[in-house]
Amino acid sequence: MKITDFLYQASINDPQLRLFEGQYPTEAGMSMNSYVLLDEKIAVLDTVDQAYQEVWLKKIQTILAERKPDYLIVHHMEPDHSACIQAFLERYPDTEVVGNVKTFAMMEAFFGEAIAPCRRIVKEGDQLPLGNHILQFFFAPMVHWPEVMMSYEIKEQILFSADAFGRFGTQQADVNWVEEARRYYYGIVGKYGLPVQNCLKKVADLPIQRICPLHGPLLSETCQQAIDRVALWSRYQAETSGVLIACSSVYGHTLQAAQRLAEKLKEKNVLAEWVDLNRTDVSWAVAKAFQYSHLVCASVTYNGDLFPSMRHFLYHLKDRNFQQRTVAVIESGSWAPNADNRIHALLADCPGLIWPFEKIQIIGAMKAPQQEAIDRLAEQLAQSLAQ
Ligand SMILES: Cc1cc2nc3c(=O)[nH]c(=O)nc-3n(C[C@H](O)[C@H](O)[C@H](O)COP(=O)(O)O)c2cc1C
Ligand SMILES: [Fe+2]
Ligand SMILES: [Fe+2]
Repeated sequence: MKITDFLYQASINDPQLRLFEGQYPTEAGMSMNSYVLLDEKIAVLDTVDQAYQEVWLKKIQTILAERKPDYLIVHHMEPDHSACIQAFLERYPDTEVVGNVKTFAMMEAFFGEAIAPCRRIVKEGDQLPLGNHILQFFFAPMVHWPEVMMSYEIKEQILFSADAFGRFGTQQADVNWVEEARRYYYGIVGKYGLPVQNCLKKVADLPIQRICPLHGPLLSETCQQAIDRVALWSRYQAETSGVLIACSSVYGHTLQAAQRLAEKLKEKNVLAEWVDLNRTDVSWAVAKAFQYSHLVCASVTYNGDLFPSMRHFLYHLKDRNFQQRTVAVIESGSWAPNADNRIHALLADCPGLIWPFEKIQIIGAMKAPQQEAIDRLAEQLAQSLAQ
């Protein structure tokens, strides 16, 4: 598919894909993007997942017409982008493969030492002239994997951003970019805020007309908004002053408390939403927890510990460097409630969390004192948000 006279894409859009990387539900499918640059020299940028090999090779062949590719540029060796390298090189054996030292080490690990006999090893800032256009390489280690690099085309000011600036859903999917990009961001690189910031510094001074990520739609008018949004996420800053109430309940009593708190907050015009962790995928709950400034964890005690969905949620938050948020707890139990202790223990290493509110404890079902405590917590949260 032609984007400009120079830029074509051979991307795969799979509306049926329901699980990405073995853990992220993709209700709107997924795209694996690949680009072809046509100039005096021809560069193919990345491949796609194994499942789409034949379709992708056909797309490449159509774009190339009778010409042969000069370069295969490998921005990222994760198999959703690299699985078809061998098949590509069998079809186009004279292609020079462009990557960095780490790229080729990984390529050999996946395909054996004989892979890519014709190699060009690039360093940070190296340029690759294609004719009228020049690609420049910027390393982006840990903006998903250690070998990741981006490239920038100087004339048309295009950033080929690897996994950065991607989102879940096919390119055509009618989804809210920010919602699906946030869930993708925290899922995939949430742990690596500092490497993302380092990478953003490198591209900060570049004029960017277009961002071509490896997943999701190409960006043009919204490049700067996307850069600003990713910068904010990389600093772990809240986007929304408001409250996420994350709830883990077996029989519904704890959920009733969570819902009462949400209603009371809404009455006070506080932005608040609750998620039932048993019925919401953890990737959504994690993204929402990072979006909001305040988090309330409402959990049953389960065999002296937390209910599994709450434990799972907190593990994922911690794994993604959850920090700088205000947290409150509602715990429930029937004989030895212990959820509050476990929540504190699991989040103990998260920097900058503040816990200014008294825990609310429910034995069995809410009664008048707990209802009043919830109403008080709503008031305190509203005050905290007003500061
Ligand atoms: C398998 C299982 C294990 C439990 N373990 C504990 C426990 O260790 N300590 C406790 O106080 N309550 C324990 N409970 C009781 C629940 O925490 C309690 O009934 C709670 O009120 C349930 O809230 P819910 O209606 O929101 O599910 C357990 C319940 C179940 C089903
Ligand atoms: Fe990746
Ligand atoms: Fe990817």
